[in-house]
Amino acid sequence: MAIITEQMYPIFLILAEIFGLLSVILVGLLFDGRVYKDTYDWPNNPFTYHPLMMTLGLVFCYGNAILLYRTFRTVPKLFVKIGHALFLILSLVLGIFGFIAIIRSKNLGKRPHFMTYHSWLGLATLILFVFQWICGFVCFLFPQMSLEIRKTYMPSHRLWGKVIFMSAVIAVLTGLSEYGMGSSFFTPNDVERKRRLIMDFFCVFTSLFALVVIYLLSNPEYQRPPEEHAED
Ligand code: HEM
Repeated sequence: MAIITEQMYPIFLILAEIFGLLSVILVGLLFDGRVYKDTYDWPNNPFTYHPLMMTLGLVFCYGNAILLYRTFRTVPKLFVKIGHALFLILSLVLGIFGFIAIIRSKNLGKRPHFMTYHSWLGLATLILFVFQWICGFVCFLFPQMSLEIRKTYMPSHRLWGKVIFMSAVIAVLTGLSEYGMGSSFFTPNDVERKRRLIMDFFCVFTSLFALVVIYLLSNPEYQRPPEEHAED
C-alpha cells in the first residue's frame, strides 16, 4: 500500500503543476491587451503587476519551494536545502515587487494604505515569510545551529511554512474578490464576461493547487526518509 501511495507522488505533483501554471496564466491574462484595455503599465498603472507577481511568487514558487524536499527525496540534502532557500528568495523577490507595485499604485492614486482585511493579511504574510526565511537560513544553512536546536525548531518551521502558504492563498483569493467587486464584475452584465470567467477559474485553479500541495505535504508517506548521517 505504501509503495502505491509513493508511486502516486509524481502524478499528484504533475496535477499540482498543471493547476499552478493555469492559475499563473489566468492571472497573467487579467491585464493582457487581448482581454482588457488596461494592460501592464508600470509608470502609470503599477497595480497591473500586483496580482501576477503575488500569485507567481507567493503561491506558485513558494508552493514548489516547500515541496522540494519531497520532490527530490533521493538528492543529497545539502543541495535540496540550497535549492529550497534559492526558490524562496525568488518567491520573496517577486512578492516584494508585487508589494512595491500596490504601494506605488496607491500613492499615485493618493489612496490611503492598509484599510482592508486583504491588505492586513497580505502584509502579515510578507512579514512572516521574511521572518521564517531568516530563521530557516540561520538555523539550517548558515551559520547553522546545533543538531539539538535544529531538531527542536524543525516542527515549528514546518508548521509556519504551511501557515504562510495558506495565508498567501487566502490573500490571493480575498484580493481578487476585492478587486472583482471594485470593478463591478459581479453585476449581471456581459461586458466583462470574459474577465469574470478568467477570475473565477483563476480562483478555482489556485484553490486546487493549494489543495494538492497541502495534501502532498501532509501525507507522511511522501516525507523524505531520515538521513543516515543526521549531521547533514
Ligand atoms: C499573496 C498574495 C497577495 C499579497 C501578499 C497581497 C498584499 C497586499 C497588500 C499588503 C496590500 C495593501 C497595500 C496598501 O494598503 O498600501 C494589497 C492591496 C491590494 N491587493 Fe493584494 N496581495 C496579494 C494578492 C492579490 C491579488 C491576487 C489581487 C487580485 C487582483 C490583489 C488585489 C489587491 C487590491 C485590489 C488591493 C488594494 C485594496 C486594499 O487596500 O486592500 N492582491 N495587497
